[in-house]
Amino acid sequence: MQDVISIKDFDRADIEKVLENAKIMEGYTKGTGILEAKILATLFFEPSTRTRLSFESAMNRLGGTVIGFSESGSSSVAKGETLQDTVRIAEQYADIIVVRHPRDGAARLAAEVAQVPIINAGDGVNQHPTQTLLDLYTIKKALNTIDGLRIGLMGDLKYGRTVHSLAYALSWYDVALQFLSPPGLEMPVHIREDLTEKEISFQQVEELEDLKVDVLYVTRIQKERFPDVEEYEKVKGSYQITKESLEFLGGAKILHPLPRVDEIDPEIDSTHNALYFQQAGSGIPVRMALLASLLGWEP
Ligand code: NCD
Repeated sequence: MQDVISIKDFDRADIEKVLENAKIMEGYTKGTGILEAKILATLFFEPSTRTRLSFESAMNRLGGTVIGFSESGSSSVAKGETLQDTVRIAEQYADIIVVRHPRDGAARLAAEVAQVPIINAGDGVNQHPTQTLLDLYTIKKALNTIDGLRIGLMGDLKYGRTVHSLAYALSWYDVALQFLSPPGLEMPVHIREDLTEKEISFQQVEELEDLKVDVLYVTRIQKERFPDVEEYEKVKGSYQITKESLEFLGGAKILHPLPRVDEIDPEIDSTHNALYFQQAGSGIPVRMALLASLLGWEP
């Protein structure tokens, strides 16, 4: 593996390898010198809390260091520099680059010009492969399996890149998917077609009450991706998981890539259903595993 651009570049064996390596990395989270003297550059052209901080933390725990920007306005991008040039410069200063960008395909473009490994930390509405790997790691850690699960994807399935990547990854497993989204925010047709081609069972449900799942993956409505704010206003606040929802969700584990807006009531946080904070924590071993492997480490 040279870069991590799209989860579509991973088959089941590749995914499982990352999850196994992440498990090994749990033993190194107090610190190791595996990536001593290596430098990670984080180029974030979009807001981020978990992804950027967990990449930084992962690199530090591996003994490496981090440079980068989290505001493209503070870089030469503000002067009109292209992404390609920014990447060509960053690779003079770093051994590996993590990019988040609002444009679909930006990470692929970066990988085309870069000599060092590129990791996609989210490109537009397209892909967020490292999020997916930590989502799968979280599910497997909590439930010991991914095969055999009924998994619900709920929320903004149109603009949410996390659910796009996750749906592709889950197509390697024996799962039954259920989709629930506000009208107009359904899972894109090309992804549904790909799932059909891979003979993955999926079902679109209309109401929260219709979900029969072991895992519910909730997402926020991606306000910033709406071409028209009025369209966002029509759907905002249209779904929320509350304590009452647990009556029909039973023991289902609830995941969310976060940030949440109002789709999960904080009263859920202290229940056994809530897995989203542990999920954010899984970013550390999973991203440690990815950084280390891309820079030549083998278990
Ligand atoms: C997600 C993203 O950036 O796509 N955040 C994250 O990385 N955990 C989800 C989101 O912004 O809603």
